[in-house]
Amino acid sequence: MSQMIKINDNKWDKKIFHLSTENTSYVIEILKDSTIGHMYYGARIKEYHNSKKYIYMDRGFSPNPKGQDSDYSYDTLPQEYPTNGNGDFRIPAYQTLEEDGSRVSNFKYIKYEIINDKPSLEGLPSSYVKNKDTVATLVLYAKDKVNNLLVKLYYSIFYHLDVITRSVEFINEGSKEIKLLRALSMNLDIRDPNFDLITLYGRHNNERNLVRRQVVPGIQGIDSTRTSSSSHQNPFIALVKPETNEQYGEAYGFGLVYSGNFLAQVQLDSYETIRVSMGINPYDFSWKLSPGNSFQTPEVIMTYTNSGLGGMSRIYHDFIREHLLRFEFKYRERPILLNTWESFYFDFNETDIINLAYESKELGIELLVLDDGWFGKRNDISSSLGDWYVNKDKLPNGLLNLARKIKNIGLDFGLWFEPEMVSPNSDLYEKHPDWVIGIPNRDRSLGRKQYVLDLSRSEVQEYIFDTVSHYLDSAPIDYIKWDMNRNVTELWSEKLSADQQQELSHRYILGLYSILERLTTEYPHVLFENSSSGGGRYDLGMLYYMGQSWTSDNTDAIGRLPIQYGTSLIYPAITMGAHVSTALNHQVGRITPLESRAHVAMAGNLGYELDVQKLNDQEKKQIKEQIKFYKANRELIQFGNLYRLNTNDENENAWLFIDDAKAEFLVTYVKILSIPGAPIRFIRLSGLDPDALYEDTSNGNVFYGDELMNSGISIERVKQDFYSKIWKFKKIGV
Ligand code: GLA
Repeated sequence: MSQMIKINDNKWDKKIFHLSTENTSYVIEILKDSTIGHMYYGARIKEYHNSKKYIYMDRGFSPNPKGQDSDYSYDTLPQEYPTNGNGDFRIPAYQTLEEDGSRVSNFKYIKYEIINDKPSLEGLPSSYVKNKDTVATLVLYAKDKVNNLLVKLYYSIFYHLDVITRSVEFINEGSKEIKLLRALSMNLDIRDPNFDLITLYGRHNNERNLVRRQVVPGIQGIDSTRTSSSSHQNPFIALVKPETNEQYGEAYGFGLVYSGNFLAQVQLDSYETIRVSMGINPYDFSWKLSPGNSFQTPEVIMTYTNSGLGGMSRIYHDFIREHLLRFEFKYRERPILLNTWESFYFDFNETDIINLAYESKELGIELLVLDDGWFGKRNDISSSLGDWYVNKDKLPNGLLNLARKIKNIGLDFGLWFEPEMVSPNSDLYEKHPDWVIGIPNRDRSLGRKQYVLDLSRSEVQEYIFDTVSHYLDSAPIDYIKWDMNRNVTELWSEKLSADQQQELSHRYILGLYSILERLTTEYPHVLFENSSSGGGRYDLGMLYYMGQSWTSDNTDAIGRLPIQYGTSLIYPAITMGAHVSTALNHQVGRITPLESRAHVAMAGNLGYELDVQKLNDQEKKQIKEQIKFYKANRELIQFGNLYRLNTNDENENAWLFIDDAKAEFLVTYVKILSIPGAPIRFIRLSGLDPDALYEDTSNGNVFYGDELMNSGISIERVKQDFYSKIWKFKKIGV
């Protein structure tokens, strides 16, 4: 599609690259000394006629490159990928260390290349296309003439989804070693100070809460130093106008396809430009680039919309489903599972599991997941990670036998692993104490009573691949829950030289990706669920390999509301594992109605995590109906378009899922506390066809879409905490 990249050569004695998606434009200009300048990113413009020609201004304390006038300074120029040490005192995009100790990085544009495809990234997960006609990639080549470092800036344009992905590749074309001290994935300089920054912060059991703050002069941002994207900050940020809400307003989104240490920052400088930078965290990072070697940064998925936060989320949801999730799982409905963790924890035997399976089948469940505790001598968290052989005390007839029995009952079978870890109290640790990350003469920290294996080592990668594939080869396993329940400390690897130790965090993630690439290629039909004490590594990198993520260990319906809200800002419902657990809830001790628990879980991939045998007949009947309802509406939730409604009132939460044809939709509503003298409530719906006549399937009442969107639907006043309701509407005419 030629309209995606327009190149204006020599018109003003300059080279301009105008990248277009259906509704956005991105303009790059090669400036007079061959610096790569950034001119514009925002709503689509037909042509760029250099409306920003007055970009130079003499500023005090802003140095000028040799041969340039005093109004030309990198300190004040909007740039695509800022260098270090040449007079731009803001955040650099990359920094090098040369053999003589110097740390100045500088490059000049040399040429461009257009690829009619979306190249994959060496060793890293990244977005992909099946139909090359819908994408084009611009590669800008720039070179540092002093150290011969070639820098390739990649921009892939996904025309119909208003997405541009970015990444950078470094190639040492010189004869001397260069160290990368910083190698971010992207930079964006926006000449407008008036934005809010949105980030998703949290902690174990309370991940991805939305935080919105005004961008003020200086640096604001988030990061992870845990060798994991973490429950604490998610590798995603958005910049939105102060007036932007769910439905209206400008929003820029930046999502990093990476699962390790990251940095995402905005810097408002003294001349009112906001610099956005994102990539691998430079903290405790360096990378040795020997002559001839290259380094690839992770990808950033970037979008712009003027349809508010909701519009931004829908772009990400479509993009992730279409261009990031494994092909096998793009169009496959996710099964309703029952997980044994909150049902039994470590205390079960074969009969318990079989009985649970019979009861689950009765209720309509489709997949039984045997969680932690099935291996080694694992009766609590203090032992056996690494000893991935079946615990014969609990499962005397072995795993194959159990899996077959579950399959015969008519359920799929899933198994829990935490393969990146080892317990000090395990056979594996006794045999390979050196496989653990740690420094020999220093104490090693424990996390959840376990150590982390050194995934940068090829023998450790082999062991993990062999362990998991052994089970996949020897038993009918349809699903694997891949857990990772602590972060990495005392970073040091026996296999790396002293000058490469700062590569370990990134090498760990590359090792993990290499294992996952092999496993998902060899077993394309197995559904992997990404877990890290719940949502501790819920990121775009893991989603590339794993079709769904356990959203949070917090299964309390009310506690889940902000978590699922924040998660949905970027991640689609189809990826969001959401379970109904018992009341009294195990994380917060709250009692909520079974109905509300299900309604909240139905906004994601519905599952159950309780001993269903202990339920009374009424509860079992209720669950049967919930499952029947979810199955009938699963396609709508998992593949439909999400509109978050009514989010201004923190006591209420309402979501709407509608199909592409706008022929049917679902509305979920949850009220947290019952308010004395409560106001009468209406919810105005969104995303409907205004001219379509819709029927409320529960009572046959009909309304035109315009009435539902403008006048709204009224909420019955029920005097009850944690009250919830679901409506299903179908189009019956126009
Ligand atoms: C993590 C997961 C839980 C469960 C336990 C088992 O915390 O998030 O769902 O699998 O591990 O130890």
